[in-house]
Amino acid sequence: MNSNRNHTVRLKKMMAIAGLFWFLYLIFHLFSVLTFHSGEAAFSSFYVWLNSSLLYPILLALLALTIVFHVVIAITRQLSNNESFGEGYKKPYPKAVPRVVAWSGASIILIFIVIHSVQMLTIDPVDLYSELQSIFQKPLMWAVYGLGMVAISTHLHHGLTNVLQTLGITSKQCKGLALIIVLVIMVGFVSIPFGILYA
Ligand code: HEM
Repeated sequence: MNSNRNHTVRLKKMMAIAGLFWFLYLIFHLFSVLTFHSGEAAFSSFYVWLNSSLLYPILLALLALTIVFHVVIAITRQLSNNESFGEGYKKPYPKAVPRVVAWSGASIILIFIVIHSVQMLTIDPVDLYSELQSIFQKPLMWAVYGLGMVAISTHLHHGLTNVLQTLGITSKQCKGLALIIVLVIMVGFVSIPFGILYA
């Protein structure tokens, strides 16, 4: 029983570390895409540099590895929770969110990341600026990005609340602080399509 609990705590910690890596990447990505507001020259030269950097393939590999890791552990935990359900085991996660909602949200995030990465990584970095402008002329793309942003925001809020709680901050403060962090990040991302719309 005790070793089972230790195993669960270890898995949760490993998931949190993988999630934290993506959180840090998201902040880096936010600052990168915000160069869009400085004009085509700044944006293109940043992405041409990034794509030719030796660190870039390492970053992509780490992103792929950590997301696969995060998803596999989440599925494994869900399956083992399902198994123990019949033995009267109370599933602690996610507390207030129905399972079907949590998993639908997670699936939308994965689909968004796949669509977005394929879309962006197949564009020549020199053309990224004009391609972004044409992507955000399409209502379908507004729907894809809108849905992706909502799903990422709620997932991030849940993850950050948990991590902050582990650091000893009270539950109410955690939720408020997590909400502010998520809002700042999302306003930054959303400023790109809106900047294009009102340019
Ligand atoms: C409106 C918001 C966003 C814009 C304008 C945007 C823009 C971009 C651009 C221009 C690239 C190409 C990078 C390159 O060729 O090197 C890229 C790549 C990527 N984006 Fe986004 N992005 C947005 C939101 C997001 C979000 C919320 C996520 C996280 C889930 C994300 C995840 C990725 C990943 C994983 C890549 C591939 C790795 C990389 O090149 O950094 N993006 N994005």
